[in-house]
Amino acid sequence: MESNRRKLLKALGATGLGLSGLVKAAEAIAASPKEADPQPSRPFPGEFYWGTATAAFQVEGAVNEDGRGKSIWDIFSHTPGKIKNNWNADVAVDMYHRYREDVGLMKALGTNAYRFSISWPRIFPEGKGSPNQKGIDFYKRLVDTLLENGIQPFATLYHWDLPQALQAREKGWQSRSIAEHFAAYAGYVASQLGDRVKHFFTLNEMFTFVEWGHGTGLLAPGLKLSRKDLNQVRHHVVLAHGLAMQAIKAAAPGVKAGPAENMVNAVPAIATPEHIKAAQEATRQLNAGYLTVMLEGQYTNEFLEKEGKDAPRFTEAEMKAIGTPVDFAGINVYMPNHYVMASDAKPGYELLPFTKVHPKMASSWHYVGPEALYWGPRHMKEIWGVKEIYITENGCGAADEQDKEGRICDTDRVMFLRNYLLNMQQAIEEGIPVKGYFHWSLMDNFEWVSGYATRFGLYYVDYKTLQRIPKLSADFYREVIKAGRVL
Ligand code: NOJ
Repeated sequence: MESNRRKLLKALGATGLGLSGLVKAAEAIAASPKEADPQPSRPFPGEFYWGTATAAFQVEGAVNEDGRGKSIWDIFSHTPGKIKNNWNADVAVDMYHRYREDVGLMKALGTNAYRFSISWPRIFPEGKGSPNQKGIDFYKRLVDTLLENGIQPFATLYHWDLPQALQAREKGWQSRSIAEHFAAYAGYVASQLGDRVKHFFTLNEMFTFVEWGHGTGLLAPGLKLSRKDLNQVRHHVVLAHGLAMQAIKAAAPGVKAGPAENMVNAVPAIATPEHIKAAQEATRQLNAGYLTVMLEGQYTNEFLEKEGKDAPRFTEAEMKAIGTPVDFAGINVYMPNHYVMASDAKPGYELLPFTKVHPKMASSWHYVGPEALYWGPRHMKEIWGVKEIYITENGCGAADEQDKEGRICDTDRVMFLRNYLLNMQQAIEEGIPVKGYFHWSLMDNFEWVSGYATRFGLYYVDYKTLQRIPKLSADFYREVIKAGRVL
């Protein structure tokens, strides 16, 4: 300030500005940013869950230990040609044995929450029947270690690893019975862990595992069902969610539960009221078989009309279960799924195609659009009135090459993260109830069909030694958490 004043007086002397000029110049200086403010971004709320996320099949390994049954992903990943380089997740990043070290990694980041998934076939090797005590004991050890380190556990009950026995004997999600088995499993886990886990997510990314696992066949179990059968799978999955909500609450009354869905996120191309309205309508329609039916308790007329004779068959009691009120909604937000404009033609919105040079991260599907992390939560609040929102996943695959010193300077991921987080901050500041953020992922891991080729971690994993090495983005995330604002 002192030097500014001197500069000003000198300039005034030279130009002969006079008193009004002096006042104006002084006002301009007062309005300009303070010289010594290196942190101009706005703060996050003091009370906030900053976390990381992983999923059992992608990190645990130890596939034959302690009585674990097989899952559809064991079978699929051992089928030649399904996974890049025919990799499998038999060892993955061996978190089953290294979880203490990995909780240390979370602590080093300064996180206070961790989202992990429970492997159904570890708990019920056959999918149902008698539980496997050793399986549940593993998660008790993990949760206790988290709590000892001040990290709140957020458990996902289904992150795609259906017990193979249910697939082989009961046709997996094609059967209504799977919804009942899932609810029984969810209730059992809640009864065992509900004294220490206060937040449960029912199913992760229903949209992805249904559409890609049962429609295109790209993911496990690799089916290409007819439209009619696919609709029935969708229905069984949302029914499983609803029944599980009830089972969890009955088994552990104090806990909260909700889904973790990758909503189809329609973002207004230009944020004017008419395009915003169009984007909301698009979001509602494009999630018809998942979030919309779960949060509204009925299929939209548009969905039922569009599917016609292939529409799901359902009873009223099922619809009531599907619409069981959620305590919160988790959304996985990676990108704007569509940019949208209002249209005079039906259905009142137009989905714009991505251009050929739209920026992407390492995964072929991953278009960049930081504003997705503003609109996703805002849609949840404005379309469905959700009162508690978690960003259950956000992150990106990046090049992640080690330099000569062994460092991973992932400035691309830092750029991604900075811009997405700024958008989340804006949403929170506007009163959108985002209560926590889970970065996908804590460390590199088995990225489904891409195997170990695409890395999403804040920690780099050397797959030869399984050593974990913090990337630049780990430093960035730690500093953001510490400062409570984007840096
Ligand atoms: C969504 C899935 O839930 C997770 O398993 C996956 O690794 C990430 N997206 C990145 O593709």
